[in-house]
Amino acid sequence: MTTPPNSAAQGYTVLDHADPVLADSPRRAFAEEVLVGLSERPKRLPSKYFYDDAGSRLFQDITELDAYYPTRCEREIFQAHHADLLDRFRRAPFNLIDLGAGDGRKTAVLLEYLIEKGADVRYVPIDISEEAMRIAVDAVGQRFPTLPISGLVADYFDGLRWLAHQTDRRNLVLFLGSNIGNFDKPRARAFLRRLWNALNPADRVLIGFDLKKDIEALLLAYNDPQGVTERFNLNLLERINRELGGTFNPDKFRFFSTYNVFSGAMESYLVSLVDQRVYIEALSQDFHFAPWEPIHTEYSYKYLDHDITDLAQFTRFAVEARWYDAQGWFCDALWRVEKG
Ligand code: AVJ
Repeated sequence: MTTPPNSAAQGYTVLDHADPVLADSPRRAFAEEVLVGLSERPKRLPSKYFYDDAGSRLFQDITELDAYYPTRCEREIFQAHHADLLDRFRRAPFNLIDLGAGDGRKTAVLLEYLIEKGADVRYVPIDISEEAMRIAVDAVGQRFPTLPISGLVADYFDGLRWLAHQTDRRNLVLFLGSNIGNFDKPRARAFLRRLWNALNPADRVLIGFDLKKDIEALLLAYNDPQGVTERFNLNLLERINRELGGTFNPDKFRFFSTYNVFSGAMESYLVSLVDQRVYIEALSQDFHFAPWEPIHTEYSYKYLDHDITDLAQFTRFAVEARWYDAQGWFCDALWRVEKG
């Protein structure tokens, strides 16, 4: 802070992020989004808040479920096509940037090949959970002791701001596992335009798209019989309790997930089982829930092949290649940045 506010009759203050007033801002931002979402009708909470340390562990558990096919499909794609993907750029030095890396296990298939071929690669995982980052950097670092790794704990947008300054080498940005599916179409376009803007010509992005498929398979993947997905959703209420002094009783909510054939998204909800009020200390306010009133928690959009082509065209990327698993359930698309 330059000058304390109101210390002079005139003047202004530029708050920067080192200022104690803003130091609490991630928690404030969370509180504000909870306030906005729970004041909305229908109520909603943003899915990005699933991923605190506990939520990231639960998501990890989801990726190991038989019912949850996306991780398995994408690993299969990497095992079958890593050479085709990586031979395109492993001969020049590059950054391998992993947006929303999680535990980095799928990426290890790619790193193994790059190291075997002696590629000059720097691995840059970016994830919002510090615990997930620590585990990923430890695990990948132990497995590949010579690999330079510089992890970044940040959300996607701060990650992109950082990325815009990485001009010394080529970049391959991984946006895997259908992470893009959480964005509706306008937000997916906005995100990809910002990504495009942060990159240089000839940089590449590899995006994992979950494809439209048998609805029964979708319903099973997002309503797993072990109830891990339910715990993953309920953790959002528990996180509000932990971080914002909320009084949610998770037993009084039921998880429900359904496929909207028209929007093409799996939609997830927590439904209040009783008439109840929940007080949130950080907001000095309580919120009323009628019996069977839903809170929307997540969209997970599924794509058709031509949606992927359209999206690339809209956001000024050139489609360079696409790979599918044997079942045709998942697609990894390699796009090249075009400018000028
Ligand atoms: C991490 C956003 C890709 O949408 O499939 C898994 C999250 N939600 N099961 C997805 C999730 C419920 C996942 N993404």
